[in-house]
Amino acid sequence: MPNRVVVLLSGTGTLLQALIDAQRDQVLNAEVVGVVSDRMDAPGLSRADAAGIPSTVVVFRPGGDRAAWDAELTRAVADFSADLVVSAGFMKLLGPAFLAEYAGRAINSHPALLPAFPGIHAVRDALAAGVKVTGATVFWIDQGVDSGKIIAQEPVRVAADDTATSLHERIKIVERKMLVDAVNGFRVER
Ligand code: GRF
Repeated sequence: MPNRVVVLLSGTGTLLQALIDAQRDQVLNAEVVGVVSDRMDAPGLSRADAAGIPSTVVVFRPGGDRAAWDAELTRAVADFSADLVVSAGFMKLLGPAFLAEYAGRAINSHPALLPAFPGIHAVRDALAAGVKVTGATVFWIDQGVDSGKIIAQEPVRVAADDTATSLHERIKIVERKMLVDAVNGFRVER
């Protein structure tokens, strides 16, 4: 039985697309069975639709009850009977209920060489720091901000004329491959 993968996303979902494409090309030893987003308008949701993958949206409203959101998100993932959760551009910190269920079964991808440049502005921060090499990291999700145990890292050179957008695009090319490899390297015993 292939691992059942649920992808969390908030944005454009090109990392999700990499998993979908790998599945189509039969080079993914897993099945993407669901997508969960915190945003109704996340463009990545239409990638799920186009691939026939069901999705759920669990919106966190400003000033809302974080614990209730955490519990609802955890339920949404569990409803897909996930073995492995892949956070692929999901822009919220996962809470205690989620971690109680999925710590050790949830991975994230980050556009920098952690522990350098954690947080949501990793690419901008790396450029501002003037580093000549940055990269991508796949790691286990824990309660911290991009602080979990590292699974894989790849470097990406910074070009003299890079903008945050051009650099992020090159990093994402690397992230897409790393994510497929990471999913392929993960086995859940059932
Ligand atoms: C990736 O760079 C990921 O590391 C970061 O957000 C980006 C998601 O890209 N957290 P996309 O929405 O999958 O295109």
